[in-house]
Amino acid sequence: MAGDSGAHGDLSSNGTHPTKDSKKATIRDVANKAKVSLGTVSNVLNDPERVAPATRNRVLKAIETTGFVRNIAARQLRGGGSKAVGIVILDSSNPFFTEMIRGAEDALRQEGYLLIACSTDGSNDREAMYLRHLEEHQVEGVLITPSNDDLEQIIDFHDRGTPVVLVDRESHSGELCSVTVDDVRGGSIAVSHLIDEGHTKILFINGPTTIRQCRDRRAGVDVALKSLKKVEEADWIEVVDLEVPSLSIASGEEISIELIDLDPTITAIMCANDLVAIGVMRGLARSGADLLSRVALVGYDDITFSSLVSPALTSVHQPQYDLGYAAARLLLEELGDSNHRHHEIRFTPDLVVRESSSGRSSQSQR
Ligand code: RIB
Repeated sequence: MAGDSGAHGDLSSNGTHPTKDSKKATIRDVANKAKVSLGTVSNVLNDPERVAPATRNRVLKAIETTGFVRNIAARQLRGGGSKAVGIVILDSSNPFFTEMIRGAEDALRQEGYLLIACSTDGSNDREAMYLRHLEEHQVEGVLITPSNDDLEQIIDFHDRGTPVVLVDRESHSGELCSVTVDDVRGGSIAVSHLIDEGHTKILFINGPTTIRQCRDRRAGVDVALKSLKKVEEADWIEVVDLEVPSLSIASGEEISIELIDLDPTITAIMCANDLVAIGVMRGLARSGADLLSRVALVGYDDITFSSLVSPALTSVHQPQYDLGYAAARLLLEELGDSNHRHHEIRFTPDLVVRESSSGRSSQSQR
């Protein structure tokens, strides 16, 4: 009968790894609990559509109650480590993370590691699902941009024995290594540039403030204004806030509709990342509004496309590749040194001024 041979991978006779910890639930425990054969459990794990829903649910319930966790990598790579590392980011379609993944991949490949990339889209539940999958696949470490400020499930995952390095997020009490960029400084240098260009009323289009990067970038604007007002009493400078539900091109396009009749005294727009800024550009172009001929626009990340759009986008440069590379190197250090001490690497962003904000001072708007 299918199920005792190759159809279900290389299950040993009792379906467990010889050196597997006997305290851990086995596939046989699940079969006994659900009163089905080993083959049926294996089918539920590997090809659930082949199993009748009622039986499938009974097996899934048994998996949950026994706490069975598949050990896929150990079964395939008996004895050795999996030589696999997971990277869990917010959105792999965002070129910011694509570059970050590339940096991590290059660092890990040099040491013979495979990289498995997962996107959470900011969902805590999806983050939990991926952490579980990566644990099942016995990855040797995880690089992660947390989906929100609650690091509990990431710390628990780490405490169960898998090294973790935070990327693009600091660890609050040093319990994990981290690699970040100073986003407060990034917000400050962007708004200071616009003020230097003569703009006095600026629209800040932010992402969800549940995202630490969004909060810090906006906080950087206030830091710059506070220091300026101390020196020049610049009380006439005003920042107007808008928030989009996601840091995506689609969000930028949607909000651009509200910009068509923008208050004419607003002469500059800052966006929390380049995708939103590019979405604003695309939305305005589609509507035929020529707002950008009179309003300065600044993004954040300096992704590849920022220099290719027209007008070329001024943006706060984040060292995306270096973030991923440095995080992977920290993880490799932790994997190779049992006395490893966690530390943080913090990059300083800089501003790349391009056509979208240069020479569009408010004086020329009047
Ligand atoms: O994921 C949203 C944003 O956070 C990215 O665009 C990048 O700026 C990161 O820091």
